[in-house]
Amino acid sequence: MPELALVLEGADDRDLTKLGEYRGVGGYRALDKARGMEPEAVVEELLTSNLRGRGGAFFPMGRKASFIPKPEDVPKPRYVVVNADESEPGTFKDREIMFRVPHRLIEGCLITAHSIRSQNVFIYIRGEYLAEFEVVRAALDEARDEGLFAGVTVVLHRGAGAYICGEESALLESLEGKRGQPRSRPPYPAVSGLYAAPTLINNVETVSTVPKVIELGGAEYAKIGAPPNSTGTRLFSLSGNVARGGNYELELGTSLNDLIFEIGGGIPEGRKLKAVIPGGSSVPVLTADEVDTPLEHDAMTERGSMLGSGAVIVIDDRCCMVQLGLRVAQFYMHESCGKCTPCREGTRWMVQLLHKIEDGRAEHEELDLLLSVCDRILGKCLCPLGDAAAMPIASYVSKFRDEFRVHIDGGGCPFGGEASLEGVMAPVDQHTHHPVAEVPA
Ligand SMILES: Cc1cc2nc3c(=O)[nH]c(=O)nc-3n(C[C@H](O)[C@H](O)[C@H](O)COP(=O)(O)O)c2cc1C
Ligand code: SF4
Repeated sequence: MPELALVLEGADDRDLTKLGEYRGVGGYRALDKARGMEPEAVVEELLTSNLRGRGGAFFPMGRKASFIPKPEDVPKPRYVVVNADESEPGTFKDREIMFRVPHRLIEGCLITAHSIRSQNVFIYIRGEYLAEFEVVRAALDEARDEGLFAGVTVVLHRGAGAYICGEESALLESLEGKRGQPRSRPPYPAVSGLYAAPTLINNVETVSTVPKVIELGGAEYAKIGAPPNSTGTRLFSLSGNVARGGNYELELGTSLNDLIFEIGGGIPEGRKLKAVIPGGSSVPVLTADEVDTPLEHDAMTERGSMLGSGAVIVIDDRCCMVQLGLRVAQFYMHESCGKCTPCREGTRWMVQLLHKIEDGRAEHEELDLLLSVCDRILGKCLCPLGDAAAMPIASYVSKFRDEFRVHIDGGGCPFGGEASLEGVMAPVDQHTHHPVAEVPA
């Protein structure tokens, strides 16, 4: 079976939120090992492992760490920043890591700090993750009391609910107390990040994988998964129209088909698979014919999509792809920070066109107009949020064009409109464009 717990190792058998229990499964031994090594040797292990970022862009962590200038070249503090903002629709893996194995994250932070000779770590946690915040805070207190920090300061900072603050440069702005808007680059954070000092910023899952890389050694880690480009495991957040949704830690290279039909139990109520979003709402959709794709970087790129944030959203034949496009576009319109014109205006235009199509008020030419709006956003924005809005919508139109046409010819939605997205994506308030949250009783 391709399930393999490296990041979540031991969490099914013991309460790893407790330091003693975490030590019982070998916890903090990798930190001792790393601190016995030269920082450059730790970076070398990361490079050899080819551990790549789990936040979305899949950039090799070791390479990013190797870009951090040496203290003698740039006499400034060096910062480690952990991106725990987790706001990509469909993604809920980092919260499980923080909730169940907070010490593995902390151990990863301390090893990473050692690797770049940093004394300061910041964990920027999504504001809504209050329970996870409390668990991580308690674990930090335990680790600090045990003297594990060895002079390193770890600050746990709560975000205030903006998706754009997950984008690394907006996150740094927000951490500095400013409005969370992306910076223009270069310079990149490795050169000029937090407080204009060299900064290594990585996702929770990436950092929580570091102890395993050090424990096994980079070369051994690199044998797991689908080497050479997709090594190790990833936590996939499986959701939507599937029997057993949840987080599954799998070796990279596992088939998407197996995740949905074997591990996830398939599509309930005898419905048929229609499409799959393989990496969070920002990535191009795959059709049912494309699910025999391995969950690894190269194969997914060949299919024209991405592993993104690891959120696999399953869509059955009840779902309206126009309505899905509308909801996704509304999300990006709402979350656009407004700093650059193609994204600020283009996302609004996409929503207007999709509304017209869904309501049956559009002309056929407006499908090409919609694709043209996507094209004018793609690659022309200050940060990747613009692309994240344009890529999925363009893929829905291209791959399900007949369905879009049927809306125009038939004067409206043949799938029952909003209700067709039940279980796939939360409804959006038509005035505020906020997701309509379920209020706990
Ligand atoms: C709009 C937007 C939102 C993002 N949100 C997140 C997020 O919530 N968590 C995350 O780790 N990365 C997020 N990213 C990616 C980060 O910018 C960055 O690539 C990542 O934190 C780097 O860590 P990694 O290399 O370990 O993946 C987002 C990017 C964009 C453009
Ligand atoms: S692409 Fe959108 S979110 Fe990113 S800077 Fe431009 S307006 Fe802001």
